[in-house]
Amino acid sequence: MFRLLLLLSISAIITVCAAGNVCKTGNIVNRLVNSRPYYWPATWTENRTAPHLEEDQSCSWTVTIPKGYYAKLIINGKTNDKNSSFQMIDAAGNLIHTSHEEMEPYYFPPYKFTLAVSTKAVASFAFKIEWFLRSVQVSAATRLINATTSTYCKSYGGNGGVSLLLFPDNRTHYYSLRSVLVFLGHDLDGNYVSNLYLLHQTHKQWISNADITIVNLEASGNGDLLLIQEAQNIKDVTYTELVPMPGFFETVTIDSRVKKSALIIGYQVNQTLVDVKMDDPSSTVSIYYGSPSLFTLDKTYNQTTFNNALPLEFDNYGMGVIEFFVNTGKAVFTFEYQ
Ligand SMILES: *[C@@H]1O[C@H](CO)[C@@H](O)[C@H](O)[C@H]1NC(C)=O
Ligand SMILES: *[C@@H]1O[C@H](CO)[C@@H](O)[C@H](O)[C@H]1NC(C)=O
Ligand SMILES: *[C@@H]1O[C@H](CO)[C@@H](O)[C@H](O)[C@H]1NC(C)=O
Ligand SMILES: *[C@@H]1O[C@H](CO)[C@@H](O)[C@H](O)[C@H]1NC(C)=O
Ligand SMILES: *[C@@H]1O[C@H](CO)[C@@H](O)[C@H](O)[C@H]1NC(C)=O
Ligand SMILES: *[C@@H]1O[C@H](CO)[C@@H](O)[C@H](O)[C@H]1NC(C)=O
Repeated sequence: MFRLLLLLSISAIITVCAAGNVCKTGNIVNRLVNSRPYYWPATWTENRTAPHLEEDQSCSWTVTIPKGYYAKLIINGKTNDKNSSFQMIDAAGNLIHTSHEEMEPYYFPPYKFTLAVSTKAVASFAFKIEWFLRSVQVSAATRLINATTSTYCKSYGGNGGVSLLLFPDNRTHYYSLRSVLVFLGHDLDGNYVSNLYLLHQTHKQWISNADITIVNLEASGNGDLLLIQEAQNIKDVTYTELVPMPGFFETVTIDSRVKKSALIIGYQVNQTLVDVKMDDPSSTVSIYYGSPSLFTLDKTYNQTTFNNALPLEFDNYGMGVIEFFVNTGKAVFTFEYQ
């Protein structure tokens, strides 16, 4: 009789295990002793496949982050119906909503972030949180910087605020930008705004009215570039980035009829401008080496002077940018890549 009971209870346990995990709302996760990683479920590690999460789950974890620390979150999970999702809210209130995560990390500053999961159908789900310290050094500004090659922490200011524009290493897969956090002011005390991944999703320049501090928490080893410009002269400019196409010709139209627009070379490759077409005879294009100002203006061309000057080579191997402002009308630029 005793043996039968034992057998029954073992098989009951096996059934529960095979059925997948359940979870609840309102979990609080504080930094563990010695900053040991926190895993959910506790038996998961990143070398294993994500376990099943039962249907109809609604769960949340509020993760606290002490001053001076950052948290790194990786999720392995996939929902299997339209009504299920994973959500994160950071200290600045930025909401991230996803349904499929393959362990590309997220980074969060103090004092907390919240991870919430809501499922209808069975899903797969597991995550890991690590806390780490990053010391702060404020240093001088440069214009175009390597955004993620190394860790750093720098403050930037300028008349009219600061503009940020990104040239990601990989234009479709730019998760490395998540490790770069932006704060207002000259320190990291509570004025967190967002990270460069979220700012880049608009594909526009981001402008802050105040000085900012930028911190990269983890080196990615790739060539993401960040352009930092004084905002005063470019607040209303729509930038189009020239994306290198080695071995090809590339044609880009810049239209300033409604909004002041400019083409910008940031990627460090050689390119040759072989053709420019302007439909309006009064149109001109001003080329600046750097942000537009009297000191950076190279030349202003019209259709005739362009025709006489082409082809023009732009070997952009210094850490700088070249900006082509279309002053009136519209211009169609054709570049050739070796
Ligand atoms: C899991 O992967 C980590 C590196 O991501 C490695 O250090 C660890 O030894 C692995 N653990 C097992 C059990 O394979
Ligand atoms: C899923 O959401 C839609 C609306 O967003 C709702 O009409 C539908 O009933 C939901 N399905 C389930 C299974 O909850
Ligand atoms: C940026 O990184 C590249 C190598 O990836 C290096 O050649 C270049 O000098 C770096 N620029 C700066 C300003 O650090
Ligand atoms: C960008 O990343 C994706 C996904 O990793 C990869 O398939 C693609 O080849 C990359 N593109 C470039 C230009 O490196
Ligand atoms: C870029 O162009 C310059 C001359 O304009 C040349 O000296 C240099 O070798 C070129 N670089 C590459 C990688 O082609
Ligand atoms: C273009 O500029 C040149 C030199 O400044 C000038 O002589 C010429 O008249 C201009 N052409 C047009 C169509 O404005």
